[in-house]
Parts: sequence; structure tokens; C-alpha cells
Amino acid sequence: MERTFCMLKPGVLQRRLVGEVLGRIERKGLQICALKMMQIPRAQCEQHYAEHKERPFFSSLVAYMTSAPVVAMVVEGQDAIRYLRTLCGATNPAEAAPGTIRGDLALVTQNNIIHASDGPESARREIELFFDAGEILEYQDGNQSWLG
Ligand SMILES: Nc1ncnc2c1ncn2[C@@H]1O[C@H](COP(=O)(O)OP(=O)(O)OP(=O)(O)O)[C@@H](O)[C@H]1O
Ligand SMILES: [Mg+2]
Repeated sequence: MERTFCMLKPGVLQRRLVGEVLGRIERKGLQICALKMMQIPRAQCEQHYAEHKERPFFSSLVAYMTSAPVVAMVVEGQDAIRYLRTLCGATNPAEAAPGTIRGDLALVTQNNIIHASDGPESARREIELFFDAGEILEYQDGNQSWLG
């Protein structure tokens, strides 16, 4: 099983879309194994997006991401990293296909609803940055246990 880090950006709580986005992740069959609401400290946000620190949008992105609470999660499943990125759609909502989270729910690139790790190394790094090991819970996949 693969784990990935996922974060619902500030607009999601403000727009009352948490259930909508979590529902899409759950209906796909991915398993949530850690979840919390938090307001990200600036230093942690800068570390999270460190790969973009030379980009012109960096300070505006950090200001936005720390402006209101987010929902941080660890999501698990086979090929979870790839499946979750596909569910999210393209970074720019104008290019995100209808049916994807960004394609259906976002208009602005910076405020594009959701973050998802882009590979195994970033998933490991980001999970560690946001969660203690004890906050990540293991339980049997309900689909398997109920369907035999
Ligand atoms: N040109 C841009 N203008 C403003 N914000 C941008 C721009 N490009 C990226 N961003 C913001 O920075 C985030 C990180 O960009 P990245 O290139 O890593 O895209 P991503 O991997 O699709 O998104 P994320 O890392 O948030 O999952 C984007 O999700 C978006 O919020
Ligand atoms: Mg990224």
C-alpha cells in the first residue's frame, strides 16, 4: 500500500466544500488514515512549498495558504499518489478536466482547492512534516472485509 499527503487548501473550509472533496476521495476507494484541521505556521508552509521558493508566486502562495485553516490528511491505497493526482486534475483549473476536483470546483491557479504529493519522496517528506507517526492509523479496508 502506498501513502500520500493531501491538503484541502483554505478555500475549501470557507466554501463548505470539505465533505464534497473528501467524498470524492473516499468514493474513489482511497483510505483516509490521518486527518486534522490546522492553521499552518508560516515556517512550516515555506518548508512544505520550498521547491517553489524562487518562483514569483511564492510569497503570495504562502500568504494564501496560511490565511485560514486547512485540512491535512494522509491517504492510502494502491498507487495512491497517482490516483489522487489524477482526481485533483491539472494545477491550472482552466486546464483541469471536468470531473476532476480542480476542474469542477476551482477557477484560480493559486486557490486550486487541493494539494497532493507528486511522488514517493515528496509524499514521505510531507507526511513527516505534518504528522507524527502515532497520528497515522491503520485499519482494515472496509471494502475488502465487507465484500469478502
Ligand atoms: N503560476 C502560478 N500562479 C500562482 N500560483 C501558482 C502558480 N503555479 C502554481 N501555483 C500554486 O502553487 C501550488 C504548487 O504548484 P505545483 O507546481 O507544485 O502544482 P501542483 O503540484 O499541481 O500543486 P500542489 O503542489 O499544490 O499539489 C499550486 O497548487 C498553486 O496553488
Ligand atoms: Mg506540487
